[in-house]
Amino acid sequence: MQITGQTKIMFVLAHPIGHVRAPAVLNAHFESTGKNVAASPLHVAPEDLNGVVAAIRHMRNVIGFGTTIPHKIEVMRFLDELTPNAKNVGAVNFTRRDKDGRLIGHNTDGLGFVAGLRLNDVDPAGKRILQLGAGGAGRAVAFALAEAGAGKLRISNRDGGKGQALAEAIAAHYPKCDVTAGPAAAEDFDVIVNTTSVGMKEDDPIPVDIDRLAPATVVADVIMTPLVTRLLARASERGCKTIGGKIMLDQQMNLVTDFLRA
Ligand code: ATR
Repeated sequence: MQITGQTKIMFVLAHPIGHVRAPAVLNAHFESTGKNVAASPLHVAPEDLNGVVAAIRHMRNVIGFGTTIPHKIEVMRFLDELTPNAKNVGAVNFTRRDKDGRLIGHNTDGLGFVAGLRLNDVDPAGKRILQLGAGGAGRAVAFALAEAGAGKLRISNRDGGKGQALAEAIAAHYPKCDVTAGPAAAEDFDVIVNTTSVGMKEDDPIPVDIDRLAPATVVADVIMTPLVTRLLARASERGCKTIGGKIMLDQQMNLVTDFLRA
C-alpha cells in the first residue's frame, strides 16, 4: 500500500518494540480489507508515555493507537474515557482518538477470543468452561466469557488468591454467571481454555490432565507461538475440537477496525 496525504495513521506503543507483531498484523488487515490506514511501531519508554499520549491528541490524522507491554495498564491514567470492557479488564490495548482529540480506551483481547470461538461454531452461552490462568490475558478472556453468557466458569490459577480475586470480580459484574475458583477435573467441562503462558516453551508441561479429557470437550489456547501447543496437539489426538490463539488475534483485527472506525 502506498502511504499518501490521505492515509490515516495508527501507532503501536511498546517497550521494547522489535518483537511486536501488531503493526504487521494490522497492516496486513488494512491492506486485505482495502482500508487507507497504516500502522507504525513507536518505541516509547515508560517515563515518556504521558508525553507521547499528550502529543497524539494533537495529531489529526491519527485515528488511534495500540498499547502493549509494558503500557497496557499505565496508559489508562492518560485517557479521557474507558469502555466498560477496558474498565472490567483493567487494561487497554487499543485507544481511539476522536475528532476533538479525546482518547477512548478499549480492550479487545477477550472479545477476540470469544469471536474466535463463535467462528468455530462454539457458543459460550450456557457452557461449563474451565479457564486456566488469571493473568492479563486471563482477566480479558474471563470477562468476555461471562459477558457471552457462560453458564459455569471455573478459574484455575497457580496463584489461587489471584484466581479467587478474578472470580469475585466476575461475580460482582455478572451475578448470573456461576463462577468459582480452584483446581478442577478436565472431564467436567464443555470448553477448556488455557490463558497461562504454559505451553510457550517446548518442554512445558501440559496444563490439564489430558487422559481425563472427553472427546466432546473443546480445547482452546490463547498462546500464539507455537501456533499449535502440546495441549492442543494432544487434545486433538483424543478427538477434541481445538482452537489456537492466532484466531483470537485475527478476530481482534475486525473489532479494532470497528472500534477505531477505520
Ligand atoms: P499475560 O498478560 O500473558 O496473561 P501474565 O499476566 O503474566 O501474562 O499471566 C501469566 C499467567 O500464566 C498467570 O495466570 C500465571 O499464573 P500465576 O498468576 O500463578 O503467576 C500463569 N503461569 C505462568 N507460568 C506458570 C507456570 N509455570 N505454571 C502455572 N501457571 C503459570
